[in-house]
Amino acid sequence: MSSPQPPPKYHEPVQGTVFHGDGREEALLKHLNSLPELSADQTASLSLQDKSQRVLDAIHEFGKQENSYLMSVGDTKGRKVEALISERKPKLILELGSYVGFSGISFSRQLPSQHPNSVYPHEWTSNPEEDRAGYISLEKSEVYADTARGAFKLAGLDKVVKIVTGSSTTSLKNLRKTLNMPRPLKFDMVFLDHLKPLYTIDLKVMEEEGLVGPGTVLVADNVVKPGNPPYLSYVRASPVSKRAILSQTRPTSQPPITPNPTNESDWDSAFKNGPIDETLWVPEEAEGVQADGDPGLVYTSQMLDGWDPYTGERDACEVSVCTGRED
Ligand SMILES: C[S@@+](CC[C@H](N)C(=O)[O-])C[C@H]1O[C@@H](n2cnc3c(N)ncnc32)[C@H](O)[C@@H]1O
Repeated sequence: MSSPQPPPKYHEPVQGTVFHGDGREEALLKHLNSLPELSADQTASLSLQDKSQRVLDAIHEFGKQENSYLMSVGDTKGRKVEALISERKPKLILELGSYVGFSGISFSRQLPSQHPNSVYPHEWTSNPEEDRAGYISLEKSEVYADTARGAFKLAGLDKVVKIVTGSSTTSLKNLRKTLNMPRPLKFDMVFLDHLKPLYTIDLKVMEEEGLVGPGTVLVADNVVKPGNPPYLSYVRASPVSKRAILSQTRPTSQPPITPNPTNESDWDSAFKNGPIDETLWVPEEAEGVQADGDPGLVYTSQMLDGWDPYTGERDACEVSVCTGRED
């Protein structure tokens, strides 16, 4: 992992303290709606890029204040993901974990210019031939979803983004029905940024539902801070080892978690050959849903490094491209 300059440190590390759900998300929405520079009058003549940037900047400024840390992807990792979007031009993007909409704004704003003739989520019909584009974001909290919806509206992206509220694993199971999304439609990109223990089971559900498959790019946030060894083990494993693990008995309680390597140079090779036993475990938050995934799917995986936007702690996104299926 390379080491550019970290951002200034606005907050101490937040793990173990209250860092969301104490009213700050409602306060953020109120604040955004009160800013003259985000009003319709003052943004009418701006490009979508500039208008959305004003909202991102305002969210970031709010998060710098005391007791206002926001668990957003931030700009160092965010800009790298935006560059990936410029390059790959995904049409359909799925996000797990909207929070207040920072990543949703950053990662959806190129869609209208890249796919000007497509139909966007609020106008999708049941026509399987429809040329669809859009950003679908899953969020458990109605309160956070309300703030995100407000932020998308101010950014001019409310027609491009659709938030589906509810717990991710169940939402994913029902997503084709909820969105009237006929097979073989799948997402071109998925951003995983919700509850860390759910990343692996939710990926397996997406594989089984055909929501991801060859051609899909997975971007998983926070794989260094706090880290997610089971997920990294799964996306870095070969089909042979994934099949071998499935023949073992499923653990009924959480197996010991493989620790993150202490030496930075070990990150690239870590987790490649497992152990992937942890990936068989289904957390309670998965609401009884079990999934084996599609073990034949092959991913090539690498890290995009960056920083927490407020604490200056090193973090990274894991980018895994599904290159095909090995039977
Ligand atoms: C780290 S924040 C997402 C940050 C956002 N992606 C960004 O960068 O701006 C994680 C979000 O996942 C949501 N979340 C947690 N568990 C969830 C679940 N089971 N299903 C859906 N969302 C969940 C939380 O409510 C929170 O809003």
